[in-house]
Amino acid sequence: MENKKALWSGRFASSPGEKMQQFSQSLDVDWQFYQEDIAGSRAHGAMLYKVGLLTADEQEAIDKALYEIEKEIEKGEFMPDVALEDVHMNIEARLIEKLGPLGAKIHTGRSRNDQVATDYRLFMKKRLTDLLAEEKHLLEALLHRAEMDIDVLIPGFTHLQHAQPISMGHYWMAYFWKFYRDVNRMLFALDTTDQNPLGAGALAGTTLPIDRHITTQLLGFASVTENSLDTVSDRDYLLEFLFAASTFMLHVSRLSEDLILWNTSEFDFIELPDAFCTGSSMMPNKKNPDALELMRGKTSGVLAAMNDLMTNLKGLPLTYNRDLQEDKRPVFHALKTMGEVLGILPSLLEQIRIKEDSIAPHLKKGFLLATDVAEYLVEKGVPFRDTHHIVGQAVQACLAKGTGFEGLSLEEWKTFHPSIDEDLFPRLTIEAAVDGRKSFGGTARSEVKRQIVAGRSSISRITF
Ligand code: ARG
Repeated sequence: MENKKALWSGRFASSPGEKMQQFSQSLDVDWQFYQEDIAGSRAHGAMLYKVGLLTADEQEAIDKALYEIEKEIEKGEFMPDVALEDVHMNIEARLIEKLGPLGAKIHTGRSRNDQVATDYRLFMKKRLTDLLAEEKHLLEALLHRAEMDIDVLIPGFTHLQHAQPISMGHYWMAYFWKFYRDVNRMLFALDTTDQNPLGAGALAGTTLPIDRHITTQLLGFASVTENSLDTVSDRDYLLEFLFAASTFMLHVSRLSEDLILWNTSEFDFIELPDAFCTGSSMMPNKKNPDALELMRGKTSGVLAAMNDLMTNLKGLPLTYNRDLQEDKRPVFHALKTMGEVLGILPSLLEQIRIKEDSIAPHLKKGFLLATDVAEYLVEKGVPFRDTHHIVGQAVQACLAKGTGFEGLSLEEWKTFHPSIDEDLFPRLTIEAAVDGRKSFGGTARSEVKRQIVAGRSSISRITF
């Protein structure tokens, strides 16, 4: 079979060899833009007619042929050819094959440089919208968990050391807000993406009387890009997505780490659902938290994707350079990973079983109520820095005796500070410690409830 010639072959005396063709082609990644490429060409054709660069008959024939090409692709009847490099030239060549010289008119006032940007932005708009819907499910799952587990009290940690008791609802809400910010970052990425590049041409626009506002409207873009040089060289919209995906994955990874720890026999706070764990090929006792480990592991690929594209862009002179063709693989990788994670994380969270009985002994360890004693003394008029020292000494005394605070009698307490009285004891329960932290955003159950309400109304305002 004779090799098809690239659409730019006129200036060339010889064609690229097979290895160069393989090296140069982007079909293996951009063929999935075929719908967007066809939508872009149909809008472009309609615009060319409106400004008088195509007759009504010509536009109609082009539009019909493009529609047919889409059907051919869907039915698997039209396979792209690497000799034609990319999705854009494959579809254009097919149009020319079907319509002859008329097909060759579609590229009027347009370049692959603005065409690829158009396809990519249309494609990303869809993908980001899908991801946002999934992210919303994750937020709902976290709200639901927070409501369910508000009365479960666990040790809170700093430095992975017992710090102060918290409501588990408060913990879930911490991740709710982190992911909520990720949603906002994704909305910003969507906004940045939603601009029409078509008509920027190769770099400088065109002498032909095109109207970019028409294609903006036909393609459903919110606005049109302002500067043609910027348009064909800009990949910021992809970086915005990769940043939103990276922070999202960082949050997933940190959450995974907590849950993996909590699922160990050492912590034993939770039991992960069987459906998201796997066994060992050798040790029959094992139930490994693979889904969470994989999420933590796959985070690196997404962070690398952001680095990949940033590194690609950092030395590029304006405007288009072929390096930009490499902008797809990292983004597609991040889209895939994020989609997969969002496909399982909400149901994994929903099915976690909290082991309150085995959490209980942990609440007795680590002097979780030390700050409560210090704050009790503050209420008695003792300066906080002094109370801190006093309670530190009480902790030391308990450690020497091998007890917790419950091992200290009132007399013993009084040796640390005379103003300590009977009224300290009701303060020394986990419930009182949690519910006493009523400061805005604190762990008191009343505050967590307020947060849940606030979270719910924040979600209801997300529209895209
Ligand atoms: N396949 C190319 C890409 O993805 C399309 C643009 C090609 N432009 C060019 N001047 N060679 O970037």
